[in-house]
Amino acid sequence: MAGKMWAGRFTKEVDERVNDFNSSISFDHRMYKQDIEGSMAHATMLGECGIIDIEESKKIVEGLKGILADIDSGKLEFDPTSEDVHMFVEAELTSRLGDTGKRLHTARSRNDQVALDIRMNLKVEADEIIALVKELEQTILNMAEKHLTTVMPGYTHMQRAQPITFAHHLMAYANMLLRDLGRLEDCKKRLNIMPLGSGALASTTYPINRQRVCDILGFDEITQNSLDGVSDRDFCIELASAISMLMMHLSRFSEEIILWCSWEFKFVELDDAYATGSSIMPQKKNPDVTELIRGKTGRVYGDLNTLLVMMKGTPLAYNKDMQEDKEAIFDAVDTVKLCLKTFIPMLDTMTVLKDNMRNAAARGFINATDCADYLVKKGMPFRDAYKITGTLVHTCIELGCTLETLPMEEYKKLTDTFDNDVYEAISLDTCVMQRKAAGGPAPESVKAQIAYVRERI
Ligand code: ARG
Repeated sequence: MAGKMWAGRFTKEVDERVNDFNSSISFDHRMYKQDIEGSMAHATMLGECGIIDIEESKKIVEGLKGILADIDSGKLEFDPTSEDVHMFVEAELTSRLGDTGKRLHTARSRNDQVALDIRMNLKVEADEIIALVKELEQTILNMAEKHLTTVMPGYTHMQRAQPITFAHHLMAYANMLLRDLGRLEDCKKRLNIMPLGSGALASTTYPINRQRVCDILGFDEITQNSLDGVSDRDFCIELASAISMLMMHLSRFSEEIILWCSWEFKFVELDDAYATGSSIMPQKKNPDVTELIRGKTGRVYGDLNTLLVMMKGTPLAYNKDMQEDKEAIFDAVDTVKLCLKTFIPMLDTMTVLKDNMRNAAARGFINATDCADYLVKKGMPFRDAYKITGTLVHTCIELGCTLETLPMEEYKKLTDTFDNDVYEAISLDTCVMQRKAAGGPAPESVKAQIAYVRERI
């Protein structure tokens, strides 16, 4: 690039290595639309406030529209030797309009410009992520509706614990994602604050109208302190944090799907279009998508950490360290979108092997709590009922049977309170149907959970 925009103070060209090192255009060019829209709003305001001639302001806006159209159509390519997208657009405008183009940067600094661009860009990204999470919610809710009576074992410590349904299990994830949506919406509130007019750090002596720029660009309000306006990156950290938690949820779900696909579980079967084979083992069908999501979660945590560490020692106001925000937050945004876009159809096409789930639920004595509760309901203190049931489980293990198939005389040996109605009380279906407390696995309770989430997405 011939001559820097800031060349006046310098007697030498910048070293090529420094130029490459300094340059952010390779990753900030993705903000070109926001950069140009921000500049159009700025130029409009400058014209309206009489800071630049109104006719020149109109020419600038037209010139910027032309640049936007040319980038969109591929006619204009980014110059990799430009320092950043802001310099690139301004240089291009000046090459098209001459001196008029040079007036655009009046009452503005790249510091407030970049702060504006990232916020505008991340607003769009946050909306895209929110739309994808809602799509995933729909997929989960539709699936849950089909599996209200699909009994499966619920686990604690990875040991079969109590019977639940697949719908109930799915709705746990629906609730996590609902909180993710809340966090993303909350992030948007603080993204939606307009920093332009902060100048380099100390605002400006020109009679600018910040509120006008805010209105044109559709922000909720303007930032209240110019030093903070240029040096705040909390909104990047908040978004990366919300994304990290969302990834954590996707990763837990992925981990379960990986387990469920194994021959040891065989609770689900992935569609062939969403699984991969092995180069050597002909029998393999691997859940690569879910494993990659699990892996990429670590990468997104890394992005969050990058941002946190980058900001912790920077004095006010702008420091070049902050240029590092973009690769980290863009990587987090791109990664979560990619994961969601792949995870949704994979889940949607996944076959649920109901019989295997039910068979697993039928083993492992997951109705033992219900057996103890049966005695409690007949008047026995819980601790005594617990002990008797434990002894029964021990007997079953010795005899190689289940509580459902254990003969009545074995029950009677421990207490006369047992009667034939115990078999009904401990049947898997009863165990599930009776757990109808709010939040529980009984179909009517899960239906209420589905309605709750549906109303909120
Ligand atoms: N490319 C820079 C960034 O992303 C733009 C702001 C540059 N400001 C400056 N004073 N060098 O942070």
